[in-house]
Amino acid sequence: THPKPVKLQKLHGKVAIVTGAASGIGAVTARHFADHGALAVVIADVQDAKGREVAASIGSHRCTFVHCDVTDEDQVKSLVEFTVNHYGSLDVMYSNAGIASASAQTVLELDLSGYDRVMAVNSRGMAACVKHAARVMVEKGVKGSIVCTASLLADCGSESLTDYTMSKHAVLGLVRSASVQLAPLGVRVNCVSPGFVGTPMVAEAFKIGAEELKEMMAAVYIGSDGPLMEKHVADAVVFLASEDSAFVNGHNLVVDGGVGL
Ligand code: NAI
Repeated sequence: THPKPVKLQKLHGKVAIVTGAASGIGAVTARHFADHGALAVVIADVQDAKGREVAASIGSHRCTFVHCDVTDEDQVKSLVEFTVNHYGSLDVMYSNAGIASASAQTVLELDLSGYDRVMAVNSRGMAACVKHAARVMVEKGVKGSIVCTASLLADCGSESLTDYTMSKHAVLGLVRSASVQLAPLGVRVNCVSPGFVGTPMVAEAFKIGAEELKEMMAAVYIGSDGPLMEKHVADAVVFLASEDSAFVNGHNLVVDGGVGL
């Protein structure tokens, strides 16, 4: 693909981190950031081989893989430090890493060790990413943008995914609090809530293969382009990350083709 003219590059010159970027929504969004002119995109994930592959496919001069388990605050701090030391700044943090419930469970049968793991990644991990990105943005006086991945389940109840739903409600609480606190300091915090996206996370959660996943997506988005969902989410993230959304703060942008209505 040909690079977009500079004036159409919404992230021209920006330095960005994407967590959970070895797969799914994160991988597509990292590529989208580069297509929109980002100066550098740091791919952070626990899956080293896949993360390196994604970084290499985007282009090594602008894209680096860094191993980071978001449940470990020291690793998140190092990720942010690496980015600033290497690229001179941090303009965009897309905190996206997340996992599904180990199995569908109502509150009656809730496995609390599974709950701890889901909360550690989806809630605590997001908080660590927002905290360390915001600290460096404030310290450097960067008018940065932080975007988190929430979910449709961040704002309604679920029939069976109790711990996942709780963890995503926590993301909304984090985004709303951080946006109020950081607005006077020039840092915006928003989240994106995808509908169903046919990623490995969903295949794993439903214990299904690629073919069944495709059929599931086609059934959810009848007459629509379910398979392009990652790209639709990435478009929304680019909007929230860029100055196009300069006056949007504390917002939860739902990207679900209307299926959640
Ligand atoms: P995915 O499984 O394709 O990607 C998630 C990535 O996060 C993986 O590369 C995984 O290695 C990484 N990850 C997991 N634990 C991590 C940790 N502790 N530290 C660093 N990285 C870690 O899944 P998908 O669907 O792309 O998920 C991305 C985000 O979107 C998640 O926050 C998920 O909850 C959210 N989401 C997904 C939806 C869907 O239908 N797929 C719907 C709504 C929200």
